[in-house]
Amino acid sequence: MARSSPASPRLIVGNWKMNRGADPLREADRVAAVRSGRDDGVTVALCPPATLLHRLSERLRGSGVLTGGQDCHVESAGAFTGEISAGLLAEAGARLVILGHSERRQGRGESDALVACKVRAALAAGLLPIVCVGETLAERRQGLAEAVVRRQLRGSLPTDLEGRAFALAYEPVWAIGAGARASEAEIGQMHHAIRDELIALSPGGARTPILYGGSVTAEGAAAIFSAPEVGGVLVGGASLRADSFLAIVAAAEA
Ligand code: PGA
Repeated sequence: MARSSPASPRLIVGNWKMNRGADPLREADRVAAVRSGRDDGVTVALCPPATLLHRLSERLRGSGVLTGGQDCHVESAGAFTGEISAGLLAEAGARLVILGHSERRQGRGESDALVACKVRAALAAGLLPIVCVGETLAERRQGLAEAVVRRQLRGSLPTDLEGRAFALAYEPVWAIGAGARASEAEIGQMHHAIRDELIALSPGGARTPILYGGSVTAEGAAAIFSAPEVGGVLVGGASLRADSFLAIVAAAEA
């Protein structure tokens, strides 16, 4: 099975968005029970709504399952009603943060430049930023998919990232929550383009994990991992239940 490099760990991240399952702590416990003590080159993380972050982090402590935020503010503190800084996420137990998700780019008008500032804030707080990029269906139909993703990537990363740990997530907007994911060929082609850009930005770009996201399911996971340069997945709907999420994790372990 092709991996970005034989020794590179895979990163499996669940994005609960503004959802909670019927019993989210129990689902997290089930993930922890399976992952506890595993040393298999797979890193698993759950990104719950902010109100659950601290409780989930405490609950998962020592299990090897990490927690993360779904966004952060660019400033570290101040009069920003309703916002959460990267430092506060870290204090609540987060180890990573999803940034530039298309639901924020589209719903909140987040620009590449703003995402880059957030990446900087996350790194300053010691979090691993997972920077999302991806084209819309209209852009793909116009043959602009790769150009859009390359532009987003260049704009959403600060220029001085050499030596800093971060991850990229390719999430075609048309595949998110759609029930139909990108094909292995589409994923492979875009991940190659992203790798290209990352290497052009800095030599360390050869090692940056590139995740795929968009209708990842237990059934489709093995095929996704067979695509070149897939260093993990960002999972929305299928991460809300331990059964489906763990089946995706199992595909990453294979
Ligand atoms: P989905 O969401 O797996 O439900 O398509 C993925 C995401 O938005 O990160």
